[in-house]
Amino acid sequence: MARGIRADNYVAFNRSIIDLVKRISDYKHNMRELQATGKMRSLVWPLFFQHTAREADRFATRLDMYSRGSIEFDRTEVVDFWSKTMGEHSAFISHLLDPDEKLLISQANKLETSFRNENFRHVRGDHVMKAANEILDFKTVGEKGIYDGKIKPIISPTRLARAARGCQVHPRAQTNASRVESRDIMRTPA
Ligand SMILES: [Fe+2]
Repeated sequence: MARGIRADNYVAFNRSIIDLVKRISDYKHNMRELQATGKMRSLVWPLFFQHTAREADRFATRLDMYSRGSIEFDRTEVVDFWSKTMGEHSAFISHLLDPDEKLLISQANKLETSFRNENFRHVRGDHVMKAANEILDFKTVGEKGIYDGKIKPIISPTRLARAARGCQVHPRAQTNASRVESRDIMRTPA
């Protein structure tokens, strides 16, 4: 299918993907509502449904932008999206650790608080980058600790590795957004 994408059909292709992604997002929102109101009893937190729906929505938005020929990042949007994502990942990790893992739980909670702090999102890049690197280190060390049997969680190391890949995207997206921002500043007439 991918080989069939051409300049004259990629918009329609993207449209079909966006429609599928929207269905996933609607499903997640629906599940969130059922879980939050006690109509469904599962082991999935309402926040996790909300989290994955937001990820799906952003993917659809970015794809729609590509279809319109726009690939630039907006720093405020990038920092907001990734900070929420990283903050929630930290919260999920905290709740998936053995209750005896006090130190790691408190580290995860601290990271969550940093990322979910609205003021933090408006600071300049260095602070955001520092926090992104901190959570990347935390997840990388966590993944190894779980594999080595030194950390007791109910999260699979594979899942943690996937979350760590998200952390690698955060600084990269942040850097790209900063580049766009500096370019825009340079374009702005004095
Ligand atoms: Fe996520």
